[in-house]
Amino acid sequence: MAGSTRILVWDGALRLFHWSAVLLVAAMWWTAENGIMDWHRRMGMILFGLLTFRIVWGLIGPQTARFGSWRIGPAAILGYIRNLRSGTHTPSFGHNPMGTLSVIAILAALFAQVGTGLFAVDVDGLESGPLATLVSFETGRLAAEIHETSFNILLALIVLHFAAIVTYLVFFKDNLVRPMVTGRRAASDFGEGAISDAKLSWLRLAIAVAAAFAAMWGVANAG
Ligand code: HEM
Ligand code: HEM
Repeated sequence: MAGSTRILVWDGALRLFHWSAVLLVAAMWWTAENGIMDWHRRMGMILFGLLTFRIVWGLIGPQTARFGSWRIGPAAILGYIRNLRSGTHTPSFGHNPMGTLSVIAILAALFAQVGTGLFAVDVDGLESGPLATLVSFETGRLAAEIHETSFNILLALIVLHFAAIVTYLVFFKDNLVRPMVTGRRAASDFGEGAISDAKLSWLRLAIAVAAAFAAMWGVANAG
């Protein structure tokens, strides 16, 4: 029966990326807050690997993960807002045009956070990121200052992210969390002809994982 068919929207690797990032960002905040900087650096390196994976996955992963398939042109966004306002909201297969903007912002903030952390040095030069030896103390301090500011920006974006998810649930009766957990949604949600290609390709997965490890290895050996 077509109505009960559930199709794959988010592949397993993307879901693992998402929930690992959630846990790691919380852990990064907690370790920084409590001065457990050796774990802050270790987990920061894992987050750096995860983000590298996400970028490669955005180039070679399944359709919903691929940056090239994201629609963020003014026409797509305005059309989407018009639909929301007229109460004809239909779920998007993958990120909706407005959600895509917030996803880009969160990914960029995560990059800024991890990128500056790699070069950051604290005031007395005791704690530093793995690449801090490559830059002057002043540059390391600047990185640390941006690291602090970008953390606030990241927090604001996460609050917005959460608020948007709750809004969809309450006002549009659209549960976005379940697909991010199980990967699947009812095919009937998308109307006729929705086909999923969100299945994992093991070769592509191996390439993205190898790229992540290569990037982590590069950083670990460059400092
Ligand atoms: C999402 C990822 C991250 C989050 C949320 C985060 C968060 C924080 C926070 C809240 C601080 C304290 C800032 C302050 O009040 O001075 C901090 C400091 C620091 N972080 Fe991160 N961080 C992240 C990633 C990283 C990474 C990847 C590294 C390096 C591998 C790193 C290295 C450092 C260092 C060296 C400091 C000390 C700088 C200072 O005390 O001024 N961080 N981080
Ligand atoms: C540290 C906190 C979080 C961060 C950094 C974060 C980051 C992200 C990112 C980067 C994406 C885009 C996925 C991709 O294409 O790569 C995303 C999507 C998503 N996140 Fe989060 N997230 C966080 C917390 C949460 C929480 C707590 C929930 C659930 C309650 C959640 C639910 C979702 C859902 C449902 C989507 C898919 C939205 C859609 O259907 O377009 N996130 N998140």
